[in-house]
Amino acid sequence: MRFTDCLAGQTLSPPPIWIMRQAGRYLAEYRAIRATTPDFISFCLSPDKACEVTLQPIRRFGFDAAIVFSDILLVPWALDRNVHFIAGDGPKLTPLLAPDTLCDTLLDGLEEKLAPIANTIKKARAALPKETALIGFSGSPWTLITYMAEGGSSRDFTIPRSWLWSQKAGMEKLTAQLVEAISRFLALQATAGADVLMLFDSWASAVPADYRREFISAPTQAIISNLRARGINQPIICFPKQIGETLIPFAHEVDCQCVAIDHNTDIEWAAKTLPPNMALQGNLDPLALISSGDEMRRGVEKILNACRTRPHIFNLGHGITPPTPTQHVEELLALVRGQ
Ligand code: CP3
Repeated sequence: MRFTDCLAGQTLSPPPIWIMRQAGRYLAEYRAIRATTPDFISFCLSPDKACEVTLQPIRRFGFDAAIVFSDILLVPWALDRNVHFIAGDGPKLTPLLAPDTLCDTLLDGLEEKLAPIANTIKKARAALPKETALIGFSGSPWTLITYMAEGGSSRDFTIPRSWLWSQKAGMEKLTAQLVEAISRFLALQATAGADVLMLFDSWASAVPADYRREFISAPTQAIISNLRARGINQPIICFPKQIGETLIPFAHEVDCQCVAIDHNTDIEWAAKTLPPNMALQGNLDPLALISSGDEMRRGVEKILNACRTRPHIFNLGHGITPPTPTQHVEELLALVRGQ
């Protein structure tokens, strides 16, 4: 498997490629099957449908990896935060009133509640070509806390950020509870057949730099240590989005095999600066795919050149957006694979 060879430290040309949110609304075949189950959580918990949409982008584009169709908010859902999705208005949850109010007993039934995701993984692994890696994933503690504190998406993360200063002990407790929940969720996915695990810390940049060791790197490393202690040895991709120069301490504090680089970070700087044996993933701006053409080609070539001498997985800097024409994804693949 070229994808896992790369994560084991091999420099491959052309690099393996997949796209964040590759199973999603830019695909007509996704929209068709999605319409059969209007409730998004129920859709994620339907193994046959979730398996089908996991496979769709592989059939159409032949990416080097599939990502299991699920969502980071399934962990808060399993912790009874009353998660639901309102079309056009994003996710909604019952907000936590304080960080130390999540009951420990909620962790008890976690594996049973999330068992459908393990089923999706079993089905998808059995159906995928043997050379295609299957990625299991979770949100990281901080990013899940932002949704649980704000009761949904947020612009400036005022509530969880102020809790860092005013209720640190509570935040430590909540982070530890999520480290345990996420470790169990990832272990479940690895045991079901995921070849690679990924942690999305989409809102890591909202943590003030001084707190990033404690609330970004340390919980991430605690999850990895928990997995390794349980004999789970799958390679791990971390995505501490937009943390800029604090990627340097992150890469030294977290024993992961790959860091995903967002499009606000200079890939030449990242390629020169981050540990040479750590794979980099990224980092084309998803909006380059809306127009494609010469500007997209320039962006792709810059990334390929910057990462030529180190393990690299081609990807976007964040998820592909719904208006992206599929023809432009084909063009991107041809550019990266040099056809
Ligand atoms: O293809 C894949 O990447 C696999 C599936 C996947 C989804 N969500 C499916 C999904 C993955 C890896 C995610 C991760 C995720 N979910 C993140 C981290 C990555 C990132 O983008 O930063 C976050 C922050 C979420 C939370 C989330 N899920 C939001 C904010 C939304 C609403 C988006 C909107 O515009 O309504 C979702 C819903 C969601 N998750 C969709 C998909 C395909 C769209 C919902 C639909 O089909 O109706």
